[in-house]
Amino acid sequence: MAATNDIYEVMQTQRAVRRWTAEPVPDDVIERIIRAATWAPSGSNMQPWGFVVIRDAARRKLIADAIRESFTGFADRLPDPDTIEDPTQRRMIRGAMNLFANFAAAPVLIIPCLVAAQSPAPEGLLAGSSIYPSIQNLMLAARAEGLGTVLTTPQDGIMETLRSEIGIPSQAQPVAMIPMGWPDVNFGPVTRRPLSEFLHWERWGAHEA
Ligand SMILES: Cc1cc2nc3c(=O)[nH]c(=O)nc-3n(C[C@H](O)[C@H](O)[C@H](O)COP(=O)(O)O)c2cc1C
Repeated sequence: MAATNDIYEVMQTQRAVRRWTAEPVPDDVIERIIRAATWAPSGSNMQPWGFVVIRDAARRKLIADAIRESFTGFADRLPDPDTIEDPTQRRMIRGAMNLFANFAAAPVLIIPCLVAAQSPAPEGLLAGSSIYPSIQNLMLAARAEGLGTVLTTPQDGIMETLRSEIGIPSQAQPVAMIPMGWPDVNFGPVTRRPLSEFLHWERWGAHEA
């Protein structure tokens, strides 16, 4: 799938990918991507992060099983995709449900963790603001390599498994779970609302006057 170093193309086509081929991802490519993640800014340059990379199929299955179990009941409360009119939303919900039913589908799983002792803020948005830029770097670098990712957040429901089976210590807080692999779907362009809804020159809402 098309690798590219054009940063704007990378950003515009870095869609949530939820289907992958089984082809393994070379370790040196994974390393390049994680290195790019570590180039991200953080408060006081504390770099309060750790990235667990899981390639082993048995470990990925163990995590997938834990996620499926933690989502029992939750999935029933999601809207039936067939009743959603907007095709983009419909595809997103269907894709998210399929992914949680088969979380081991991607050959690589990355778990970014916030390391509390190095975090410039103890918790909340401020703590998150020192790790999510690294996750965005990671996903953009993956897209540049031609790899598909999706940021997911089932980690809180399987914390015991992550601590006991993956050995993530209590001072490291998993903040996302990112499956990664060679996509079995096309990249972007992403669907977003018009810029005029989001851009406020000089004063909030001035464009509406
Ligand atoms: C904070 C955050 C949490 C997300 N959680 C999930 C998730 O749990 N499962 C999932 O399939 N996608 C998840 N996504 C992916 C979004 O659904 C996706 O990025 C969004 O619908 C836009 O689609 P696009 O990236 O393909 O343009 C998440 C994205 C973000 C930024």
